[in-house]
Amino acid sequence: MKKPKHIAIIMDGNGRWAQERGLKRSEGHLAGAQTVRTVLSECVRHEIPHVSLYAFSTENWNRPQEEVNYLFTLFCEFTNKELPLMLKEGIRLNVIGEKSNLPLATRKALDYAIKKTAKGTNTELTLALNYSGSQEIIQAARKSAYESLCSPENLERIIKAAQNEATLKKEFARIFSETDYTEANLRKHFFYPELPDPDLIIRTSGELRLSNFYLFQAAYSELYFTDVYWPDFSALDFKLALDVYANRKRRFGKIDV
Ligand code: FPP
Repeated sequence: MKKPKHIAIIMDGNGRWAQERGLKRSEGHLAGAQTVRTVLSECVRHEIPHVSLYAFSTENWNRPQEEVNYLFTLFCEFTNKELPLMLKEGIRLNVIGEKSNLPLATRKALDYAIKKTAKGTNTELTLALNYSGSQEIIQAARKSAYESLCSPENLERIIKAAQNEATLKKEFARIFSETDYTEANLRKHFFYPELPDPDLIIRTSGELRLSNFYLFQAAYSELYFTDVYWPDFSALDFKLALDVYANRKRRFGKIDV
């Protein structure tokens, strides 16, 4: 059976799950954390090498302060509490996104767990926290352009050409049309360049969009949408997504032969 090497999940519907039960949104997130546990074990059981979870987007800062605070406390507690499980299951933790403005306690818990789980050889869990796909592309383009301009050879040529506007423009055109200003070079500046692109992206709760997750990397991902809210997403739902994936024909722009 064809299996994805990398599954990326947009965990949606915690709030609606809670509201429909007359509970607080935070209780939906707490129930969602239980699903994270289930899905991690299922990834190990099905031998999925990489799973990414979209836990907090840069746009999520716009939620009520109380909810944002709750989420970061939950991420911190989850990381501390589930460390033994991660070690037992051979899960390696990794984080993508702008970590610098996360609360200190969350950052510390994550860094500690990343270090402790570094030798895990089963499933790698990549948590997307304070992540934005468009920002990832923009910052990679900036860094890649800067790196090209500042190579010793290019700097020398730029300095030589600097007295003449036309020559300088020609020099810049040459630099940016060179074969090394490539997709591979852009990807080098992504948060986690070695991570293979997601083969399968799952979104729960019936919403049909990517919401700024892995914009570049999703070019040829198979998309799977389910109406199930994230707290209700079970081992069986996970298996169903794997079965659907196994029957998809992936052509990557080519035709079947
Ligand atoms: C989207 O549902 C969910 C989030 C923004 C937070 C995701 C967090 C969890 C699943 C908690 C546990 C995660 C970890 C990594 C421990 P929503 O609140 O937008 O739902 P709604 O659209 O129904 O309001």
